Amino acid sequence: MTAFLTRPLSVDAQAFVGPGLPVRVFEAARPPSFEELVRGAEGAHTLLTLVSDPITAAVLDALPTVRHVAQVAVGYDNVDVEACRARGVLVTHTPGVLTDATADLTFALLLAVARRVREGAALLRGGHFHGWGPTMLLGMELRDRVLGIYGFGRIGQAVARRAAGFGMRVVYCSRSDGPPELGARVDFATLLRASDVVSLHAPATPETRHAFDAAALSAMKPGAILINTARGPLVEEAALAYALQEGPLFGAGLDVYEDEPAVHPSLILRDDVVLLPHLGSATEAARRRMAETALTDALCVFEGRAAKHVVPELLDDA
Ligand code: 8YV
Repeated sequence: MTAFLTRPLSVDAQAFVGPGLPVRVFEAARPPSFEELVRGAEGAHTLLTLVSDPITAAVLDALPTVRHVAQVAVGYDNVDVEACRARGVLVTHTPGVLTDATADLTFALLLAVARRVREGAALLRGGHFHGWGPTMLLGMELRDRVLGIYGFGRIGQAVARRAAGFGMRVVYCSRSDGPPELGARVDFATLLRASDVVSLHAPATPETRHAFDAAALSAMKPGAILINTARGPLVEEAALAYALQEGPLFGAGLDVYEDEPAVHPSLILRDDVVLLPHLGSATEAARRRMAETALTDALCVFEGRAAKHVVPELLDDA
């Protein structure tokens, strides 16, 4: 029995798990196709997967020996968890270990948009900096601004803690109450109306898909900023492009996309949008911890011990 890893990680997976669990790695710098996955993982007990690998019922049916999908990410919307449950396949993920990395990147994007960092850097590199100017590239100051956080799990709360350091007031929209000292829970309409910055930290589910559609975006405060380091499908990208062009927004910062890796063409052209290539967890430390978390669970399951990071939907079954 072996494990199949869909991409080389920053950690040597084989060295980490030891010789007891042979790990085959798909070595290309891109996700495997359906055929490549099925061929590469033939006979495998464990699939070590990334967000770019659709783990569908068809994949599971083509790989009947797979007993464990160990997702190397906190989000697992690429995995059909119900199909896994129906086939007795365990699903684990890597919560907690990339919280700070993602919250930091959220503020990198927020500051870049609010302080027009992209425009300033482009102006200078383009040879247009001819001296300091009193009205050059004025942006938004964060102190006393309202930060609206959509989804208040680990990462949303870590963003709220950082916001306190910037003197921002936090409101949040969530299915449950968070620690009261971090902010006030409000309904979605209030979040949109009251927030100077809205930052997204909810998973991609049928309920959150296009939560930020044309109606929601047009209900945002004039001059507000939208930041998305969660999942692309939460935002209707065409509606965001329109809201930036015609509507109320000051700017947007995006790390994730509706149809990743494609990006809506008009967003690419806009000066008031900062775009990053899904870097939320891209620190050496976070990526190492993600790999080690997934590999540790892979080894546990392989050796018949309980995995530590079973996805919540399967917790009752585990
Ligand atoms: C990962 C992420 O880097 O963990 C997640 O849910 O979005 C990122 O931090 C990416 O998903 C790689 O699988």
